[in-house]
Amino acid sequence: MTFQTLLYAVENRIAIVTVNRPEKLNALNAQAKAELMELMTALRNNDGVDVVILTGAGEKSFVAGTDIGELAGLDVHSGKEFSKKGQEVFDLVENLGKPVIAAVNGYALGGGCELALACHIRLASENARFGQPEVNLGIIPGYGGTQRLPRLIGKGRAMELILTGVPIDAHEAYRIGLVNRVYPLADLMPKARAMAALIGSMGQRAIHFALEAINVADQTPLLEGLHREATLFGDCCNTQDVKEGTRAFLEKRKPSFKNR
Ligand code: COA
Repeated sequence: MTFQTLLYAVENRIAIVTVNRPEKLNALNAQAKAELMELMTALRNNDGVDVVILTGAGEKSFVAGTDIGELAGLDVHSGKEFSKKGQEVFDLVENLGKPVIAAVNGYALGGGCELALACHIRLASENARFGQPEVNLGIIPGYGGTQRLPRLIGKGRAMELILTGVPIDAHEAYRIGLVNRVYPLADLMPKARAMAALIGSMGQRAIHFALEAINVADQTPLLEGLHREATLFGDCCNTQDVKEGTRAFLEKRKPSFKNR
């Protein structure tokens, strides 16, 4: 598969997806969103890929937002559609059925921050900047930011980021739980690959069920979520992987999961 706005490679069952518009700081234009939709759909169905790493081309930016040039002509109807279309892409990332790690290598502003929020784990380089600067343009975040950000970092902090539009650096993002880890830029991709490889070494049925159970957590009341967890736990117990994993532990050897 080749794309105009994305780079794509698979190494050792890990897909590396790079938003590739460095001259525009990887801002997401309509084509980039359509290509992300196409590639993510293909990755969801690709049995040769266990984990996805999402990053931006160059050393300055992950994604500097939606392409501002495409915003000016929107009206009440096309604006709503614009938002819903972007949300669809990011919902697909969140519900891909396999882990997506954001390797945030610079600006993650507006739609870039929202894209990172849709990923399951966020790793950042020290030069990363996170923010929702949409109010500067007279709009609000429209790709899930008003919903995912408060769920991740709490309502008060999300209010501040969204209402002031002021970005924060990687260390502040770590302090408030917006990112999982911060690394020097040169270490970011090796660390992302190492984490992807570690997750990839587990039984992938369990990883899939864990993603589903955790995703349910912000959408359902506790009792319903616990019920879902028990069902998914039961599903795990119906796999060959659980037999192999428990047997390997008792035999003091590394498990060899078949992802079945
Ligand atoms: N949409 C469209 N183009 C963008 C963009 C965006 N979100 N972000 C950056 N660009 C473009 C710039 O217009 C510029 O293009 P040009 O060289 O053709 O003029 C190029 O990327 C480089 O950006 P520049 O502003 O010159 O870099 P900088 O280092 O001075 O500033 C930022 C970097 C990220 C602070 C600044 O580009 C910015 O504020 N971008 C918009 C961020 C934003 O509001 N995102 C949310 C959108 S809803």
